[in-house]
Amino acid sequence: MKPTILLQLDTDPQPSVFDGVVAVDSGVAHIFRHGGVKPEAVRDLVHGALFTRGPADLKSTAVFVGGSDVRAGESLLKAVTETFFGPFRVSVLFDANGCNTTAAAAVLAAIEGATRALGSIDGATVAVLAATGPVGQRVARLLLGLEGSVSVRVGSRRLDKAQATAALLKQTTGKEPVPFATANVEDLKRGIAGADVVIAAGAAGVMLLPAFVRESFRPKVLVDLNAVPPVGIEGVDPTDRGKDRGGVLTWGALGVGGTKMKIHKKALQELFTANDKRIDAEECLAIGRSLE
Ligand SMILES: NC(=O)c1ccc[n+]([C@@H]2O[C@H](COP(=O)([O-])OP(=O)(O)OC[C@H]3O[C@@H](n4cnc5c(N)ncnc54)[C@H](OP(=O)(O)O)[C@@H]3O)[C@@H](O)[C@H]2O)c1
Repeated sequence: MKPTILLQLDTDPQPSVFDGVVAVDSGVAHIFRHGGVKPEAVRDLVHGALFTRGPADLKSTAVFVGGSDVRAGESLLKAVTETFFGPFRVSVLFDANGCNTTAAAAVLAAIEGATRALGSIDGATVAVLAATGPVGQRVARLLLGLEGSVSVRVGSRRLDKAQATAALLKQTTGKEPVPFATANVEDLKRGIAGADVVIAAGAAGVMLLPAFVRESFRPKVLVDLNAVPPVGIEGVDPTDRGKDRGGVLTWGALGVGGTKMKIHKKALQELFTANDKRIDAEECLAIGRSLE
């Protein structure tokens, strides 16, 4: 096999150093880093990757699409896949702002927690707070895609946003989550009442679930993705990783982040096993499950 090359396409002015370091640590031989990439520039960049090595060697080249703006990254991903034709294609990993690897790691934490507390996540009720963001939406999508039956609720400060997210998820998964509002304490309490698992996917530095609200119901598992103080779920430490806190199993952002890193590295390695892999949220979850 020829030396591996990762074409890093990033929507930010400077391509992510974090993503570059993970690629090196995953064993990629060469990284071609491009920042400020717009969809109209993608075709020529990808052609450079497709037409240099012969078809038999295409699996030694792959594309990583990243950047802090997930929506902009999705446009790049579309442009990348539209460039491929016939055998002229290479594998692609999409992980703008860590959205897919983080969502997959959060769902793995929820599965592990529910399995320890309830025997299985099958039959459990999972409430996702801030399910409207790129990470929260993917968390809900992955939960809805699990085998068995998981009852999923999607929360937002605005009920109309939660409803729009639920409708979008129904379109993509065929299953409809229950939307709820979180703007005031009474709405929040109603939305999470009876939930076995709560996953907080709110913006950095925003507390979504204060301790006094937590005490109003009896969750079995809490997963928080916000590491920036104040954390998203009061009382959950960012380093928690399946910690038993008075009968509640807790994961903090750094605890989830350890699994996220493993998925990210393994996903990069998978890219070079064929020339037609497309690694999105579902594939990241499958990779995470294979690491268990
Ligand atoms: N551990 C890791 O490795 C890792 C990697 C990537 C991301 N993350 C973390 O994952 C979390 C989610 O990421 P993201 O990119 O999806 O987040 P985001 O887009 O910044 O925000 C997600 C949601 O948070 C809610 N929100 C925003 N500002 C708020 C405020 N002031 N008060 C209350 N709610 C607010 C919004 O929902 P509504 O408007 O619908 O209420 C928004 O859709 C972040 O904390 C991020 O730092 C962790």
